Amino acid sequence: MRGSSLFTTVTAFFASQNVETVYPINEMGVTPAMGWNNWNAFACSVSEDLLISTAEKMAAFGLRDAGYEYIVLDDCWSMGRDSKGNLQYDPAKFPNGMKSVAEKVHSLGFRFGMYSDAGSYTCARYPGSLGYEEQDAITFASWDVDYLKYDNCHNQGLSGTPKITSERYRTMTNALRAAGRPILYAICNWGEDFPWKWGPTVANSWRMSGDIYDSFDRPDPRCPCGGDEYVCAYPGSHCSVMNILNKAASIIDTSLPGAFNDLDMLEVGNGGMDDEEYKAHFSMWAAVKSPLFMGNDVNVMDAKALSILNNPAVIAVSQDPLGVPAIRRWRYYVNDTDQYGQGEIQMWSGPLYGGDQLVILLNAGNSARKMTATLADIFCVAAGIAKEIKEDWDIYDLWANRMDDATAQSIIDSGSLDAASVKSFYYNATQTSFKDGLAANHALLYGKLTGTVEAGGAIETDVPRHGVSMMRLRKRTAKADSKASLKVQDA
Ligand code: GAL
Repeated sequence: MRGSSLFTTVTAFFASQNVETVYPINEMGVTPAMGWNNWNAFACSVSEDLLISTAEKMAAFGLRDAGYEYIVLDDCWSMGRDSKGNLQYDPAKFPNGMKSVAEKVHSLGFRFGMYSDAGSYTCARYPGSLGYEEQDAITFASWDVDYLKYDNCHNQGLSGTPKITSERYRTMTNALRAAGRPILYAICNWGEDFPWKWGPTVANSWRMSGDIYDSFDRPDPRCPCGGDEYVCAYPGSHCSVMNILNKAASIIDTSLPGAFNDLDMLEVGNGGMDDEEYKAHFSMWAAVKSPLFMGNDVNVMDAKALSILNNPAVIAVSQDPLGVPAIRRWRYYVNDTDQYGQGEIQMWSGPLYGGDQLVILLNAGNSARKMTATLADIFCVAAGIAKEIKEDWDIYDLWANRMDDATAQSIIDSGSLDAASVKSFYYNATQTSFKDGLAANHALLYGKLTGTVEAGGAIETDVPRHGVSMMRLRKRTAKADSKASLKVQDA
């Protein structure tokens, strides 16, 4: 479990103020949760075999040790309740029972997640947990579950205000606590009733939009809301990457260590976007500290998907010890439309461990372009001039050291990380945490030094169509020895 002293610090602060607020809710999920969830690729086609074979492949491909910790079973696992009201798993799908699935998943070095719903039915009309919270939390704990995704369908009208919705979800917070097993709590009410305003007192993460769809920017009537001011009566589904990101922009700074806005599971590898679009999707989800749940079928994973998902320099941004989301500094429309309408460009930035700064130039226009970010914009502060603008900075490209296709393909073909070429790309976060790796200056976490920007200056870079340039700025005072001090991880 990724623990921290944050819980102790915050709890002590509230105690000293004589305030009873429980915040954050537990010691888990201090950095955004990472793992795999079956929903995007398999929907209701779930089984014991699927979960276990996926976990085996994720371990063999190095994804577990790259940081993907949870294997999460979504909707459609249930068969109802027994005469005492206990949830029953479907024995046709899980012939050895849920506890045995958990045991197998644990023995492969992962944690195990399950799904329920804060309503009378799940979205696929299996029994929900509304009114059964304590009993179901005990059941999940007895199955050795480590993570609960908690949905919002069939909620019996118990929504419409933040108070009603947060209380419905808090019933499960309390039930999980009472059940006595540490269970990461991920609520999924699609942004209804502003969960970013109350989420940190209820859960470790909260979905802030309707369901993702495997498209970069295609509008869809099933996802009616968009726009800068995110107030949405009908979150819907089939929301593109750009739709979700633009909704997140106005609320993302509400995330805290241990309590994150969830932009929904990843679509990387599912086939609906090109390589640059998937890189942009993954980069932005990491930058804003969304949980990172792979949503693809690892049996048909291609080299490019693997080398996006295992990029340590980008994952290190997601798992950064500060836990601060990048924020959008500017957005312009450009006269460069694709078939779906208006093109746009954006710049996002935010603080990283060690006084570093993340910068992303995002090109959602229809052609490659040069883009520029000034230090003044990158370090924009509400009042006055940030002192960082007066510093010189080294620029590290976080995609420049991406694993090459041949190496990624060799992992997929052999199911092993033994090839000599793997070593130079592969960071093992089980062996060395991201925090320790960053502190030790592991080169794999820092990308590639590609240039410098002087005080008061600007970064100009080529950004592909529907792509990003993702950079880490490091203070140039470290430059004289920065190359020398970057180490490759020990075997
Ligand atoms: C939706 C949820 C999806 C998935 C689905 C299962 O409400 O947003 O991520 O869990 O239900 O039925």
